Amino acid sequence: MTELLEIHDLRVAFGGREAVRGVELTVGRGKTLAVVGESGCGKSLTALALLGLAPPAAHVSGSATLGGTELIGRADRELRRLRGKRAAMIFQDPMSSLNPTTRIGTQIAEVLAIHTSLGRRERLRRAVELMESVGITDAARRAKQMPHELSGGMRQRVMISIALAGSPELLIADEPTTALDVTVQAQVLALLRERTRDTALLFITHDMGVVAEIADRVAVMYAGRVVETGTVRAILETPRHPYTAALLRSVPDPDRPVAGELPTIPGQVPAVGAKIEGCPFRPRCGHADDTCHTTPPLTGGVACWHPRTEVPA
Ligand SMILES: Nc1ncnc2c1ncn2[C@@H]1O[C@H](COP(=O)(O)OP(=O)(O)OP(=O)(O)O)[C@@H](O)[C@H]1O
Ligand code: SF4
Ligand SMILES: [Mg+2]
Repeated sequence: MTELLEIHDLRVAFGGREAVRGVELTVGRGKTLAVVGESGCGKSLTALALLGLAPPAAHVSGSATLGGTELIGRADRELRRLRGKRAAMIFQDPMSSLNPTTRIGTQIAEVLAIHTSLGRRERLRRAVELMESVGITDAARRAKQMPHELSGGMRQRVMISIALAGSPELLIADEPTTALDVTVQAQVLALLRERTRDTALLFITHDMGVVAEIADRVAVMYAGRVVETGTVRAILETPRHPYTAALLRSVPDPDRPVAGELPTIPGQVPAVGAKIEGCPFRPRCGHADDTCHTTPPLTGGVACWHPRTEVPA
């Protein structure tokens, strides 16, 4: 059986410079895939390209199918209809998606107007119910408030309720808890986990602690490509790509990674559009040989000529 989301050779370029360079990914129905990697490796662009939300200057090519429907190259009008209904996205900063001058309840009701046939009063009532369902207390009063009157955590709860209002098959969350303090982060994560039991979740994060918490599978991105995918357990316990291993190295216990940013790895991610010969990770890799210098490793499995086999100490 085919997976819910299948991405093949997805590319995003700006004036011929490729920021996403042939991404291969799949997400199963109701499953959670965490996408990790350093800043600038193309995580957000990959997600935005799927929903037709990449910047206008971006040239997107390749294939991404959602339940068999091709998303890449679709007309804006068709993608707008698809967004919210079959796939929805939440961002790090909920203020970027909320209208600052419209009451919260009205904004949720507007989304319900698109996805349901409920009448006006019913929609407002349902909006309050949705707010309650994401753990917002005193929802009837809060529904009348403006976005700035809510805390960051409350706003992110509102965004989750809006994203799930159309019962999408796929929810994409791009660092949804990064801007929140640790306690609120844990609450919002628990909420996402609970509310996405039947919804596939593509979860973009820097935080290895969060990965263990939420994901079934992990995809590690480097320089615009997926360099390794596997179950959470395989990735955390026996990373095979030297980059994955480097990301995990400063995590003391692979079963219980510490929350926080990814550890820093010496050296830098190649710049977008930089000419890359051989393996993009080579300048930072302790295992490189002549082949790594001259020939790019194959993508699809572990994108490395010399994958690690030993269990890291
Ligand atoms: N509008 C744009 N024009 C030109 N280059 C862009 C544009 N948007 C993104 N890029 C480039 O694409 C690369 C990948 O960006 P992307 O936002 O996908 O990274 P990311 O993995 O999400 O990073 P972060 O973890 O910092 O969010 C970046 O290095 C950036 O320079
Ligand atoms: S292909 Fe070579 S340089 Fe690249 S990660 Fe593997 S060992 Fe390191
Ligand atoms: Mg990003």
